[in-house]
Amino acid sequence: MTAPDQRPHETEDGSDPVGDEPSALARRGELLTAAAFLSSVVGALGLSVVYWRGGQPQLEGLFLAVALGGIGIGLVMWARYFLPKVAAVEERHELGSTEEEVAEFRETFEQGEHLLTRRRLLVRSATAALVALGAAFVFPLRSLGPRPGRGFRNTPFRDGVRLVTDDGQPVRVGDVASDGVLTVFPEGHVGSADAPTLLLRPDVAVRPRAGREDWTPDGLVAYSKLCTHVGCPVGLYQSEQHLLLCPCHQSTFDVLDGARPVFGPAARSLPQLPLDIDDDGFVIARGDFSGPPGPGFWDRDRGSD
Ligand code: FES
Repeated sequence: MTAPDQRPHETEDGSDPVGDEPSALARRGELLTAAAFLSSVVGALGLSVVYWRGGQPQLEGLFLAVALGGIGIGLVMWARYFLPKVAAVEERHELGSTEEEVAEFRETFEQGEHLLTRRRLLVRSATAALVALGAAFVFPLRSLGPRPGRGFRNTPFRDGVRLVTDDGQPVRVGDVASDGVLTVFPEGHVGSADAPTLLLRPDVAVRPRAGREDWTPDGLVAYSKLCTHVGCPVGLYQSEQHLLLCPCHQSTFDVLDGARPVFGPAARSLPQLPLDIDDDGFVIARGDFSGPPGPGFWDRDRGSD
């Protein structure tokens, strides 16, 4: 298999990168190979952290590229520095190898062995890279099945939580003018996607639904701001008719009647927030909304308005 007069590890141009002793080139190859595998570890760990913290597509793509690229470059380096570069010519002959050929192959195959002074480092770094990458690929399994955490049904509103404006100021009874409307959030969760709420003070009494008679202290009433059609913010209030309008597809909700939809494609009332006033005169929630805010989802209970 080896060309006549050519050492087994010689290249065609006569250079001898795989000498009898570990060369500076081989040592450098070891370090570069280990560095590539370790960069893959860093990429995989970064991917895990970004995914765990909620995900960011550009960063996830970057870390995945580093993780896969590190392994790829490490394998290329390994081949570049430690696999024998032999120009082999195999004549056509009957299939099957003679004992001499097998012995020669084994000698050639094991040529680079003595150069691996840090075999343990390389093997361990390669193993760590593969294990870390494998662990990172486990995390997407969390995306299967029900959403982790609070799910779609609950918002940060709890009994006793103050209602605050979008700049975090707690709302007092007098902050809402007669027939006025204010967008509010639960204290500590300003900007929460599922908790924007319309706090209104109609100039006539609302008609409470059964069980909600004490949800409207001092004439205040609060509904989720998320349209139950496909989730647009219900941003318009026609105070004369006491109607809330969704600008996306013109769903219209009756403020005096539990935000019941009276026009448009929305089929479900805006969920109502039970209110109270604390000892300092601030408006607080008495619990979560009467139903899941926003559009319906696949396993939402029916009739939970
Ligand atoms: S999202 Fe409000 S009507 Fe369609």
